[in-house]
Amino acid sequence: MSFKVTVHPSNHEFPVENGQSVLDAALAAGIVLPYSCRNGACSTCKGKVVSGSYEAGASPAQILSPEELAQGYTLFCQARPTSDLLIEAHEIRMASDIQIRKMPSRVMELEQYGSDVMVIKLQLPATDPFRYYAGQYLEFILKDGRRRSYSMANPPVENNLIELHVRHMPGGIFTDHVFGTGATKMKVREILRVEGPFGSFFLREDNDKPIVFLASGTGFAPIKAIVERMIAHDNQRKAVLYWGGRRPADLYMHDKALEWANTLPNFSYVPVVSDALPEDNWTGRTGFVHQAVLQDIPDLSGYQVYACGAPIMVDSARKDFTRLSGLPEDDFFADAFTTEADVV
Ligand code: FES
Repeated sequence: MSFKVTVHPSNHEFPVENGQSVLDAALAAGIVLPYSCRNGACSTCKGKVVSGSYEAGASPAQILSPEELAQGYTLFCQARPTSDLLIEAHEIRMASDIQIRKMPSRVMELEQYGSDVMVIKLQLPATDPFRYYAGQYLEFILKDGRRRSYSMANPPVENNLIELHVRHMPGGIFTDHVFGTGATKMKVREILRVEGPFGSFFLREDNDKPIVFLASGTGFAPIKAIVERMIAHDNQRKAVLYWGGRRPADLYMHDKALEWANTLPNFSYVPVVSDALPEDNWTGRTGFVHQAVLQDIPDLSGYQVYACGAPIMVDSARKDFTRLSGLPEDDFFADAFTTEADVV
């Protein structure tokens, strides 16, 4: 049995098969609603059900406030209709040549940064251009069908070579393979199955508000892709990057960010470390990265914020920026990754 979902205000309609989420059905119909993790962890897909019934799943109650739940808000990546629905959501216009597809990929290069970040260069089939927005992610499809998500850290290039930043999560089935030893270690020329591109985290280029990029750890990857796209297109929007880590070594491409700050006229960079040890000799900003933004820019009402990193950081930033510093909710764009998802 299938149900019909109608989106307000666009009036677009799409069918949802029994057991399918609203988000998956929308994407299958070529309708892009805002989304990131697809597993109920980030709240990017939050939207309102105006009428109709549905099973909400477990996560909305953990992620949304009681007021939001009372107003009919839910997570569309979790909601499964049990009748026709009328929903309220901002659709995202995407170029029609950006299509989600499965394909093989070949590992071309593995370069370790510090003790726990691997930069993987992957070759996708060169015959068919892999089109995506800088900031989107792909999923590895593991042999047992499980999936792991990583953002492309570079904008699309003609030869279909993509760069991913993978942090080692000891005990994680995929990252233990990336960082393993001996026969179990990922090797150059290995073939991996991937699907993508996914996500609605990319630069809104129809806007010229100054940008705050906010990253923790490997949340730097999609922001690197966006900044490199801006450089390639001579986009002169004013931007500041706040990049946070526990120790200085977590800012594994600190030199790259410094280089942007030193060479781009409208770009600045604020590294922030929360748990430096005496031997780190850290003399820069300390504390939580999103709080450093609030200290420096108490009024964010004229900005756009692009945040990527651990869900706790993204969530705190969304709440504090919108409640305390006047950032319109529609000007906060986020990609939250769930590192726990990699643990067996
Ligand atoms: S909670 Fe639905 S996309 Fe993240």
